[in-house]
Amino acid sequence: MNKIEQSLAVEIATGVVPGWKGDALIIGVYEGGEAQAALSLCGKVVIHEVQQRLAEKWLRGSLGESIAFPTPANSGLLVSRIVLLGMGKKESLTTESFRALGGHITTLCHKSGITSCHLLITLDTYHKPKQKRTRIPVVEALAEGAWLADYRFDHFKSKAVEESKEAFKDHPFKRLFLGVQATEAAEEKKRLLAMKWVTRGVILARNLGNQPANLLNPETLAQEAQQLAERLPHIKTTVHNEKILAKKGMNGILAVGSGSHTPPRLIVMEYRQGGDRPVLAVIGKGITFDSGGLSLKSGEGMVDMKFDMCGAAAVFGLMQMVAEMALPINVVGIVPAAENMPSATAQRPGDVIKTAKGIFVEVVNTDAEGRLILADALHYAASFKPAVLIDLATLTGACAVALGGQASGLMSNNDPLRRQLEKAGDRSGERLWPLPLFAEYQEQIKSTVADIKNVGGREAGAITAACFLSRFVESNQPWAHVDIAGTAYDMSGSRPHVPKGAVGVGVRFLYRFIQAHWM
Ligand code: BES
Ligand code: MN
Ligand code: ZN
Repeated sequence: MNKIEQSLAVEIATGVVPGWKGDALIIGVYEGGEAQAALSLCGKVVIHEVQQRLAEKWLRGSLGESIAFPTPANSGLLVSRIVLLGMGKKESLTTESFRALGGHITTLCHKSGITSCHLLITLDTYHKPKQKRTRIPVVEALAEGAWLADYRFDHFKSKAVEESKEAFKDHPFKRLFLGVQATEAAEEKKRLLAMKWVTRGVILARNLGNQPANLLNPETLAQEAQQLAERLPHIKTTVHNEKILAKKGMNGILAVGSGSHTPPRLIVMEYRQGGDRPVLAVIGKGITFDSGGLSLKSGEGMVDMKFDMCGAAAVFGLMQMVAEMALPINVVGIVPAAENMPSATAQRPGDVIKTAKGIFVEVVNTDAEGRLILADALHYAASFKPAVLIDLATLTGACAVALGGQASGLMSNNDPLRRQLEKAGDRSGERLWPLPLFAEYQEQIKSTVADIKNVGGREAGAITAACFLSRFVESNQPWAHVDIAGTAYDMSGSRPHVPKGAVGVGVRFLYRFIQAHWM
């Protein structure tokens, strides 16, 4: 699973259009039937063919729509077909539209057996709506979308794999050439390479997220971390087993894991290539399956709970990314891993546990388990003296209800950090939206028998969960909590660059955050 198969090569192409070789040339068409400006580079014959089809309204130009026709014999072009690809309204194009377009291109090539294709779209310049001076990073976004869409989790589809392998044996989508001006080629190549590592990180996060819970448990997740360290230079993995957890007084992690046949783990992955520069610590919730424990979930509520380790998956993806990019930074990834199961040895509602920080917690509901394992992990993270501490967790259904799949919830004790992360979210396409941490919310987690309880009632569920976490972070420690319950997986298949299942959310906004403030 650790081995990332990224068979699609995305390359920069310069030179004149007639010299390009391949199966297809893709030309962008805006809604309303206007072709992109760079069509003018294709020579009279092709220009005429395209204009004629647009005049006859062969396609409307809505985003992702496409038609293909054979390249006219006397055109002088070396590609065998011309594809017209709808781009939507020109004035409303955003970076995210280009990611979606990249996704559509991959899907299109897979479906029609195109092995290699060239894009004209990247030869035009686009500006952000209402910000005439800000250029959209078109090449990067298209490549990102194309790579993100070139993903299938089909390890367990014996028949379908055979069939699709048969169908595409001679025609896997192998190469995407993005046309750019010669003066920009060097710069774009650099960005492309970075995007390759980023999307590889996303793919690792998806692979882990999609892995079923009978195969991925705290132990096998820890093995994945060890393999990551073997596979990549400069990553050091340390796995703390249940005995060490007991020694460290990490009863939050132990209590959650106590109902499972597979004992819990605390996984630590260190990447230190930044000398004496500050440390970034990232924690990911690693519940490999969340049945709810004795506060058992309904059958329906349990279906997708193998995804309850997607925070952890993002941390894995991040660690792989920084190591493959050989960034001169210091990052520590921390994953508390446990399986939340009901059994005779499971914790009970009403139990009181002493966390590693010494705070006593009344466990009102064993289904609010994420905050219990994160409590110990947050406390442990302090030992690395991080300049910034970020946790990612599929923490509350309440957050998914509030924001749906369009944004992750963002809660922080530090305004500048929150703004930095919001910006990173916007840039990456993985949006983060703030929720307040007003002191008054802390009242909701007061307990009659212990210091705090693990549930704060129905109201403001995402916020009271974050309030709980805040108790395990020093008040002067810049910290942000990202609730990815609504964004971690997407079963709709409605976004071309997000196949059904684990999204791999987190890797891309963390990349933008690191790029802007840590490199
Ligand atoms: N892992 C769930 C949250 C979740 C729900 C993630 C749906 C993704 C989709 C978490 O452990 C949980 O069960 N939270 C409870 C908390 C409640 C008992 C206070 C919830 O949200 O219902
Ligand atoms: Mn739960
Ligand atoms: Zn959970």
